[in-house]
Amino acid sequence: MIEIINETMFHLYNEKISYVMTVLPNQQLGHVYFGPALGKIESFDQIYLDKKVNKSAGTVKFFDGNNSFTLADRYQELPIYGTTDFREGALTIFEEETPLYTDFKLHSFRCYMGKVRNLDKPASFAGENESQSIEFELVDAERELKIDMTYTIFRGLGTIARKQKISNIGDEARRIERFMSGVLELKNRDFEWVHLSGAWLKERHIKATTVSQGTMSVGSLKGASGHQHNPFVALKEKSTSNDHGYIYGANLIYSGNFLAQVEMDEWNNLRLMIGMHPEHFSWKLDPGETFESPESIFTFSNLGMNGLIQESAQFVEKHIIPPHWQERERPIVFNNWEATYFDFDEEKLLSLAKESRSLGMECFVLDDGWFGNRNSDRSSLGDWTANNAKFPKGIGHFAQEIHALDLKLGIWFEPEMVSPDSKMYQEHPEWVVKHPYNRISIGRGQYVLDFANPIVVESIFQAMKEIILETNLDYIKWDMNRNITEAYSAYLAENGIAQTEFYHRYMLGVYKLYQKILSAFPNILIEGCAGGGGRYDLGILFYSPQIWPSDDSDAVERLTIQSGTLLGYPMSSFSNHVSASPNHQVDRHTSLTFRQHTAMFGPLGYELDLFSLSTEEKQKIKNHIEFYKQHRQLLTFGTFYQLNSVEKQNEVIWAVHDSDKQEILIGFYKILAEANPASEEFFHIPFLDMTRVYQVNGERISGRILKNLGLRKPYQFNAVNHGTAQIQGDFQSFIYHIQVVENKE
Ligand code: GLA
Repeated sequence: MIEIINETMFHLYNEKISYVMTVLPNQQLGHVYFGPALGKIESFDQIYLDKKVNKSAGTVKFFDGNNSFTLADRYQELPIYGTTDFREGALTIFEEETPLYTDFKLHSFRCYMGKVRNLDKPASFAGENESQSIEFELVDAERELKIDMTYTIFRGLGTIARKQKISNIGDEARRIERFMSGVLELKNRDFEWVHLSGAWLKERHIKATTVSQGTMSVGSLKGASGHQHNPFVALKEKSTSNDHGYIYGANLIYSGNFLAQVEMDEWNNLRLMIGMHPEHFSWKLDPGETFESPESIFTFSNLGMNGLIQESAQFVEKHIIPPHWQERERPIVFNNWEATYFDFDEEKLLSLAKESRSLGMECFVLDDGWFGNRNSDRSSLGDWTANNAKFPKGIGHFAQEIHALDLKLGIWFEPEMVSPDSKMYQEHPEWVVKHPYNRISIGRGQYVLDFANPIVVESIFQAMKEIILETNLDYIKWDMNRNITEAYSAYLAENGIAQTEFYHRYMLGVYKLYQKILSAFPNILIEGCAGGGGRYDLGILFYSPQIWPSDDSDAVERLTIQSGTLLGYPMSSFSNHVSASPNHQVDRHTSLTFRQHTAMFGPLGYELDLFSLSTEEKQKIKNHIEFYKQHRQLLTFGTFYQLNSVEKQNEVIWAVHDSDKQEILIGFYKILAEANPASEEFFHIPFLDMTRVYQVNGERISGRILKNLGLRKPYQFNAVNHGTAQIQGDFQSFIYHIQVVENKE
């Protein structure tokens, strides 16, 4: 998997991809290639791969007195601004006010198998035989700095992970101003810059813009990865379709401020960079100290959008999601938020719980409003003890009752926040993120706690631990409902640490709390949430196997949100709740069938007043839950396919199949009805096999027919087929269950 040629060329490869690096004439680590697998490289290939020709770099042609070499157009693994390369660099470092134009030279390297999981910080991990890594040690002897860069390739996957740390090996302090986690240089192939953008209630919509000379970027400065952009980005050839064409994905295993950008120079060279956002960031590196940047990942597929969807899913499921939850079925949740909001007591909750149990649900999640005096979103965050009026016999008693119903119990927390109207704030006003000047902003009536302060983290842990123990808790919904403003930590100030380190230290504090909880309660299921999908990233998924993807539970909106999310994250990572009609976010009326069909791809839940349902609706829920339980493995961990172009949003077609393609489920969704539609009558399923015979919802159909004609869309109402149309009107759906009944050859 790792081939080293003449100690100057390094080739990470498997059957899908090759990633090639080389030592440049100035001893810097250069990039050669990332793309389809090249197989073993021979020495004559090395000569071919080595780049010899330099372009003119304007007026500055020479690197360091060597007049045959310039960095201007060289593909580099760690480009530095201020050299003959005028593009933005990956590392900026100062000694007091003096910039250091660092000159890292390859010093040594070593290879190793496997990658250890450590709860300290989120990062990819792999078993002994599942990955191979090469760690380079690069030294800048003159400026007394060292960088360790580790590249990992995984068995059978199109992903490369990159981890790096910088150490001060001298006697003077240094200041890091920018340390991007990953750089990928490649030639433009008529690429589009693909990103997942949106807002609260409409997260992760796929956007694609043609790359042109200049820089395009997305990022976050909110102290969280954010609703507006996501650290997952991609470059895809304009001609790339669902199943064909080049696509490169990049992601960052981090939940805080980030920047992802692509810069195109005058020679059509692209530099894709991803890392912590340099704005408002600098980090002091004292002699002997080391700073580690978050890990980045790069994925390649030449099988179009579905190729990337599947590569992303496999990588995240195997190498990011906590091992305990890999391939483990998730409970069907009932969440009381949209059923009751703050208006509940133990009695009301227990009757909802009983009802949910009788319909087949498996876990009761007690959402916001159970603690302190919390009857609205204006108070009590930070006071993590149960509300006596709502739980007169204590939260422990409530938990026993839930468990006695054979339900698991989940509880909502918002660990990083405090309400001004809380005991915690009265006792510890200094624990809040606020500048010593008067200006302080408030969001959703709450302040952000100073998670850069280990005492704050420990105190929240102790409070959560008590509740977890008292309730024998199975599940935590970890919410985070506002972003950071006027960032300032009294703790950092007291300890002589620069405020420019705050945002990153805050994130490390959040990860520390996850670590404490999971070390004490390794099997607890944590669902991430940040006002819906405001922190949907690989940092959170390293600890929480699933995330509440959006506060918008409308089934139509969710089609777009889920389709976007799937480009970078597995189906098992988003939980979908069937909610009320009309929907609480957009007031749309949709049928229960449509809502259930949309929510079934991924972990399923319900979040509506069960007592407002008719007997017929309850029966429908029961039936759906039974169906879901039979197919839960497939609907959580199956291989996902997008069967329609993601741009054609009026018809969404999702498919999943098991590992040997014996069983397939397809969800067909029609958003708005069309008059006398001109659209295709059939749709194609690329992974079907001509040599097999299938059964489609009970009907035998040969693979040849299915493959060549496609599957007939569910009949649509067109004014003359009254009575026979399977789907009629707006917001309609249909599920196909396909099984192999005969293998002909
Ligand atoms: C956030 C979450 C919701 C719900 C509320 C409770 O908005 O995203 O699911 O938990 O908070 O206040």
